[in-house]
Amino acid sequence: MTPYVADPVYLNGRFLPLAEAGVSPLDRGFLYGDGVYEVIPVYSRRAFRLDEHLTRLQATLDGIRLANPLPLEGWKAVVLQLIEAAPWDDQSIYLQVTRGADDKRDHAFPPASVPPTAFAFASPLVTTPAEVRATGVAAITVPDLRWARCDLKVISLLANVLARQQAVDQGCAEAILIRDGLMKEGAASNIFVVKDGVLLAPPKTHLMLPGITYDVILELAECYGQPVKIAEIEESELRRADEVWMTSSTKEILAITTLDGQPVGNGPNAGKPGPLAGQMWQWYQDFKNTVMRKG
Ligand code: PDD
Repeated sequence: MTPYVADPVYLNGRFLPLAEAGVSPLDRGFLYGDGVYEVIPVYSRRAFRLDEHLTRLQATLDGIRLANPLPLEGWKAVVLQLIEAAPWDDQSIYLQVTRGADDKRDHAFPPASVPPTAFAFASPLVTTPAEVRATGVAAITVPDLRWARCDLKVISLLANVLARQQAVDQGCAEAILIRDGLMKEGAASNIFVVKDGVLLAPPKTHLMLPGITYDVILELAECYGQPVKIAEIEESELRRADEVWMTSSTKEILAITTLDGQPVGNGPNAGKPGPLAGQMWQWYQDFKNTVMRKG
C-alpha cells in the first residue's frame, strides 16, 4: 500500500522515520493550535514557487511573533532532501512550525529558551481526476466564523475544518465563506468569479489567505491579456456569476458548477465548467511545464 507520508520525515533538525518522530503533548501546537504551516506542490521533483511559499511562511511567523527556526536556505535544503527521499515525482510538501513545548500550560509565550518545533514531510500530490474536472464540483456557502487574521497561514483551522465538513456532509467539495455579505474565500481555497468575460478576484486583505495559486492566476491573466477586476465580491455577484472557481496549491483550478444546489451560470453552460476555467487550467499547466523545464 502506498503510504500517505514518506519516510523519512523532518523533525527539529533531523530526518527520521515517521514512527520515531515524537512531539511532546505539551507542544503549543497541540495545546493551543499555536503554530503555522505551508503546503508546497512538487512537480517532477521540483518544488513549485518555493521562494513564494517560504516568504509567506516568514510573513505568517512574523504575524504570530515566532522566530523562524531555519534560514531560507535551511528550509530549501530540508524541502530538497524530503523530495529526493520520497518515492513520488509529484508530491506535496507540508511544513509546520509551532511555538514548542514549555514545562507548563500558560497562554502567554514561553521563555525564549523554549525552542520551536519544526516538522515537515512529503506526501503524494493528489490531483483532481479528469472526470471531476470535466463536470466541476459542488459547493455550499456558509458564514465565515473565522478570526480576523485570515491572511496568516496558521494551524488553528477549526472554523475551516467545520465549514469544509459541512460541505462534505452535503456531498459538496468546498464551503465558500461569506462575511458581512462579501465572498472571502473557500475553507481551504481561494475563490474566483467570472462575469461577462471579466475575471473577478477579491482583494488581499486580512480576511483572506494570500494564495500562491491566486498570484499565479493573476499573473497568467495579465500575461495573456485576460481582463481582471480586483474588488470585493458581493454574495449576490457570486450567485449571478457565469463561472466560479476554487484554486489552491493542491486543487490548482477547479470549476464550481453547483452552488447551494443551484447550477452556476446561465444558458448552455449552466452547471458546467465555463470556457475561462478550461483556458486558465491550460495556461496553468503550460506555465508549470515551463517552470519544470527551467528548474
Ligand atoms: N490551503 N485559502 C485558504 C483558507 C487555504 O487553506 C488555502 C490553501 C488557500 C490557497 O492557497 P495556495 O494557493 O497558496 O495553496 C486559500 C492548503 C492547500 C491546505 O490548507 O491544505
